[in-house]
Amino acid sequence: MAYDRVMDIIKHPREPLGEAEAAPVQAVQGAVSFQNVAFEYERGLPVLKGVSFDVRPGQVVALMGATGSGKTTVINLLMRFYEHSGGDITLDGVDIRQYPRDFLRRNIGVVEQEPFLFSRTIRENITYGVGRAVSDEEVYAAARAAAVHHVIESFPLGYNTLVGERGVTLSGGQKQRVAIARTLLKNPRILILDDATSSVDSETEAAIRDAVKQLLPGRTAFIIAHRVQTVMNADQILVFDNGQIVQAGTHASLLDAPDGFYRRIFDMQSRIDDEVEKEVGS
Ligand SMILES: Nc1ncnc2c1ncn2[C@@H]1O[C@H](COP(=O)(O)OP(=O)(O)OP(=O)(O)O)[C@@H](O)[C@H]1O
Ligand SMILES: [Mg+2]
Repeated sequence: MAYDRVMDIIKHPREPLGEAEAAPVQAVQGAVSFQNVAFEYERGLPVLKGVSFDVRPGQVVALMGATGSGKTTVINLLMRFYEHSGGDITLDGVDIRQYPRDFLRRNIGVVEQEPFLFSRTIRENITYGVGRAVSDEEVYAAARAAAVHHVIESFPLGYNTLVGERGVTLSGGQKQRVAIARTLLKNPRILILDDATSSVDSETEAAIRDAVKQLLPGRTAFIIAHRVQTVMNADQILVFDNGQIVQAGTHASLLDAPDGFYRRIFDMQSRIDDEVEKEVGS
């Protein structure tokens, strides 16, 4: 079964079936707008409550906020895994519902919170869904940029190593880097990284952060992260709480709000980093 079909079944139980999808579509520029967007997965339990933001093509937007505050849900709506129930979502000024789902999924690359790899070779996992023939050199370059090439080369079968039950088990961080390599090859106009560094050690996190930097230029990017270090260079930082945006701005402007969530997180993480440094130094 094709990867997309598997993901459809796993992830999109609520997608309406049989909908006519025939919009004329030109190349994506990457402007994304949410205006007063509302959504609930279950009736009577609002998850997004009037979310508004505007992203210009090429901007990097960071989404922060407590677990369950609605960050991944924003992405689910942008990808049309679910349909919003109120407000407007537009891509390049056009209602998102005008775009065929497969078009959105071709043009928006997502590195998910828990990337899904299937039981094939690493090379097949990296090249899946790219939609064109790719040379070995391109695959290696993507894997190098994603800081996973040396790991793959350390396996006796290299890129032909099977992943999953009958092959190697990759760690969370390695899976994410394979997913980053796949996204690099796909070269999407809009890039989404959902918590891409949450489950890895700090050395791996730094490697992934470098890999991500290679992905950013010229694209609109959404980065969902918990660490200030990961989001501080974003053009906009949106702080979510309980389905609403409670703070929005740049690193500098958000630090100026002494009682804000962002300032508190920054102070807390700086303190932890200092302590770790002391610990290592002594
Ligand atoms: N498929 C779903 N069905 C029902 N409720 C859901 C579903 N996915 C998420 N929720 C609920 O919606 C709310 C927002 O979830 P969401 O995944 O957007 O949070 P998040 O900000 O991404 O959190 P995290 O930082 O833990 O990833 C939560 O209360 C969650 O329990
Ligand atoms: Mg999430």
